[in-house]
Amino acid sequence: MAGKVTVVGAGFYGSTTAQRIAEYNIVDTVVLTDILEGKPEGLALDMNQSRSIEGFETKIVGQTTTVDGGGYEAIAGSDVVIITAGLPRKPGMSRMDLIETNAKIVRGVAENIAKHAPSAVIIVVSNPLDEMTALTQLASGFPKERVLGQAGMLDTARFTHFVAEELKVPVASVQTLTLGSHGDTMVPVPSRCTVDGKPLADLLPADKIEELVVRTRNGGAEVVALLKTGSAYYAPSAAAARMAKAVIEDSGAVMPVCAWVDGEYGIEGVYLGVEAQIGKGGVTKVVETKLTDSELAELKAASEAVREKQADVAGL
Ligand code: 2OP
Repeated sequence: MAGKVTVVGAGFYGSTTAQRIAEYNIVDTVVLTDILEGKPEGLALDMNQSRSIEGFETKIVGQTTTVDGGGYEAIAGSDVVIITAGLPRKPGMSRMDLIETNAKIVRGVAENIAKHAPSAVIIVVSNPLDEMTALTQLASGFPKERVLGQAGMLDTARFTHFVAEELKVPVASVQTLTLGSHGDTMVPVPSRCTVDGKPLADLLPADKIEELVVRTRNGGAEVVALLKTGSAYYAPSAAAARMAKAVIEDSGAVMPVCAWVDGEYGIEGVYLGVEAQIGKGGVTKVVETKLTDSELAELKAASEAVREKQADVAGL
């Protein structure tokens, strides 16, 4: 076993991501950092004490960092760094309401990653996701394929759960897909959804499918409204951890992620939710899938919406 993954931010999203990756038992070290003094060290100690019960050897290292970059030496040599830093939304907020606050936090984190772990693949999960991914690439100066964002895995998993619940079938028999942004211009793709290989459209009426699409698009907000403080983390951390695993194992798995799109679907130069092949170097290929005309139009509209916002973050 070799390898090192860093998770920046020891909130619920970050800590559950660190725990999941440690439990995979695929890397020597998982580093968990936070600016709250003692929190990452305390969580790391707690997680390490679960090792003999859960049967994994990965060591978790907790490291408090300071806003001026103190403590970041601990991330040196990381193969993957996952950025979860930033505020989650409160009930009634959109992810976009976090843009100014989180841009400052994410920019600082990205600069420190560039300094201390210059060969890492960065997986961004901070919101608004598509914009924070673009900002991370700008601030780190990393090649675009080495910076990607987590959203499609999560949104697709939510869609799959809703379809499985509606049809009362195991989640394993359901295949769904979401593309576009991790926000209002999310593009769930019903034409690519199947249950035991049968098209979803043969199993559910169009209005029911539309209901599930809308619920998927609001999947994060539904959890935020129930929790009242904080946002979802079990499904989000599962998604981020699987992406890190694909990088560590150089698996070539094709996953819906936020990746740099330059020419695919006729869309130029923007970070957007698409299917991509994931390996050691990050995104090894954006994989185009067949879409209906209206789905393609929605994806193009999403790309225009996020392009405008991504241009704004350059100045934040
Ligand atoms: C969500 O959709 C946190 O954005 C994340 O739950």
